Formats: sequence, C-alpha cells, structure tokens
Amino acid sequence: MGQMTKSMPDRWDEFARVDAHRYICTGVGPDDSRKFWASGEQTIETELLPLVHEFRLEVGVALEIGCGVGRLLLPLARHFATAVGVDVSGEMILRARRNSADLGIRNIEWILASEPNAVLQQRSGLAGKVDLLYSLLVFQHIEQADLIDSYMGTIAELLAGSGVAYLHFDTRDRTALYRFRNRLPDGLLPWFWKRSIRRIRREPREIERLMRRRGLEVIRELAPGTAEHRYLLRKNPHAAREADQKP
Ligand SMILES: C[S@@+](CC[C@H](N)C(=O)[O-])C[C@H]1O[C@@H](n2cnc3c(N)ncnc32)[C@H](O)[C@@H]1O
Repeated sequence: MGQMTKSMPDRWDEFARVDAHRYICTGVGPDDSRKFWASGEQTIETELLPLVHEFRLEVGVALEIGCGVGRLLLPLARHFATAVGVDVSGEMILRARRNSADLGIRNIEWILASEPNAVLQQRSGLAGKVDLLYSLLVFQHIEQADLIDSYMGTIAELLAGSGVAYLHFDTRDRTALYRFRNRLPDGLLPWFWKRSIRRIRREPREIERLMRRRGLEVIRELAPGTAEHRYLLRKNPHAAREADQKP
C-alpha cells in the first residue's frame, strides 16, 4: 500500500527545474510571477481563513500536502504558530525554502516525503496535532487509488480532534473522450495532458469510501462534480465504534 510509481518524484523535480510556476498553476504565464503569488494570497483569504474563523480552529499547526514552492503555505504561515509543508519533490521544497527565506518567514517546517507514511515517520510529534490540513492541486495528479487511500490514513492520524482537512479532487465525469485521451502516448499529447501533470478524474463514491474507511467524515462539499471539487473533513469521533459494529 502507498507505494508511488518510481518516476513521480523525478517528474515533479523536473517540472520544478523547467518552470515551477507554470506546472503548478497551468494557467499562469512564464513571466507572470505576480499573478502566481497573488492567486495563492487570494485562496488563503477566500477559502482557508474563512474556515479558521467559522470552525474557530486553533491556530497551532497548519499542514499542506503537496506544498510546491509555497504559493499557499507562505501566506498562510503568518496566521499559524507553525506551518508544515510536505512534498514528494526535493526541488520544489528547495525553491519553497528559498522563497520563505527571502520573505524572512521562520515558522515553516519542511518534510520531503516519498510516501504518505514518511510524514509521521519523520515527525511523529505531529500525530493528532494538526488544526488545518489542506491539499489543493495535488490529488488530481495522483493516478493510484492506493496512494490516495494511504494519504487518507495519514490525514486521519495527523488531524487534531477539533481540526479540519480541506482536500481538492477533480470529480468531472470520465467521458469517452477523457478515457480515449488517457490511452494515448505522451508524445501525441500537449504538455498539460501528459502523464504526471494531467488531471485524473475520480468517482466521488470511490474517494468518499476511502475517507470513511480511514475514519474521516465529510462535513461539507464545494463544487461537486467539477474540476474544483473540495471536501471538508474531520475525524469521525464514532469511527472506531462503527468499524467494530461492522460484521
Ligand atoms: C500542481 S502542484 C501544487 C502546489 C501547491 N499545492 C499549490 O497549490 O501551489 C503539485 C505539487 O504536489 C506535489 N506532489 C505530487 N504528488 C505528490 C505526492 N504523492 N505527495 C506529496 N506531494 C506530491 C508536487 O511535487 C507539486 O509540488
């Protein structure tokens, strides 16, 4: 469980070297760094901070899975005592570290994780301590369902009892055109449809089954059935009892 294809960290390292901003936000032009960082600020202001206020979250630890170069984590870090950036790519983390040093941000810890279990193996002290855990533009690139499953387990272990997780998936219909396109070799496809950077559409039922079986409860959904489907989750306090009662 939880094994990644060997090439995934290498592919993201390569994307970071070629043009990190373009591969992170495919709509951002190569020279438009201001737009890249402004998009992160905007997501923090309009999506994540409202959750902090609405759910009266503690502002101890925020953790991002797939933090890239820090587009979201850097602006969020000033609202939390500690921010933690997890990524599979050392090249992304290297750039994120540089960006945070340039801004004088000192409360971010970085975890280079080649697989989900590595997060708690490296920082066991984070178990049950994360107040806000989020991941945007990441799970849509992961092909293997077992890797998503393993991440759900890690998320359940990381979350504080009062914490929430905010996760993005692409749940558009897998149309015949989508399935046909995915069978073509990379050489015939434009860069944004090639393997690793293409968006993987998932069945909501499949995702929600994985969440439930890891003891996570969906408390809200935004834009279901679209490329911007967001799930808001918390630990289900009855999960252990429900699992016990199952035949
Ligand atoms: C499109 S970028 C998004 C970065 C950031 N979330 C943002 O919105 O600016 C995807 C990031 O996820 C990372 N990533 C891809 N697969 C991952 C995995 N299985 N575990 C952790 N990070 C992963 C990539 O290295 C890359 O930095």
